Amino acid sequence: MTPPVRTGLPGAPDPFYTPIPVPEDNRLGTIAGDIAAQGWSWQPGFLPDDLTAALRAEIFARDAEQDLAMAGIGREDAFQLDRSVRLTRISWMDGSSPAQRAFFDWAEPLRKSLNRALMIGLFDFESCYAVYPEGGFYDRHLDSFEGARNRVLSLVVYLNDDWTDDKGGALVIWPERASETDAPSARLLPHGAGVAFMLSETVPHAVEVTHARRYAIAGWWRVNQSGDTRVDPIS
Ligand code: OGA
Ligand code: MN
Repeated sequence: MTPPVRTGLPGAPDPFYTPIPVPEDNRLGTIAGDIAAQGWSWQPGFLPDDLTAALRAEIFARDAEQDLAMAGIGREDAFQLDRSVRLTRISWMDGSSPAQRAFFDWAEPLRKSLNRALMIGLFDFESCYAVYPEGGFYDRHLDSFEGARNRVLSLVVYLNDDWTDDKGGALVIWPERASETDAPSARLLPHGAGVAFMLSETVPHAVEVTHARRYAIAGWWRVNQSGDTRVDPIS
């Protein structure tokens, strides 16, 4: 076999073996790769510490104020409250506090990066604080009906301190389009600052009964649904 032609000047770094520079933290690439390969990605400790602390302070305060409404299930037009499926209290994030604005600022580069890597056209983002009281849970579900395109990629950010297995409350993830009898592919403990990404239409998931108060943010990116009868906002 003929050796490759070398073009480097004598003494200069060999161009064939110069490593491609990678960013210090290539987790964005890992997340995109995981999503492409299996539809979900788990990133422990991904939310920066100061942002985690600010969001935790806000969710604690809201919880103390009993500001969280009982969450329902289904789309806006099929809203229902069914405690046999889900027991959570949620509070929508509207950017009305510095912590929420910092969270949106953190999420935006993720959107751009995932759009570049996966070409999935994520357009806008909505999120809510979610508190699961002791005994709280969420049965196996998808975050969006396949083809509805109202939610494309889901994100869950945990705001607890450390978590231990005896507290329950694990996020259970099944393979894309798994049947009811398929085994789960992961069971993740909701450690603070951990972030889970899941394709909303195809990755079934559930929250096991929690034995301690469980604090999280659930978020979704949607695609642009502008059409003849509707114009999505630009921002
Ligand atoms: C949801 C959800 C998972 C979690 O809010 O839709 O699936 O771990 N949350 O809190
Ligand atoms: Mn969900």
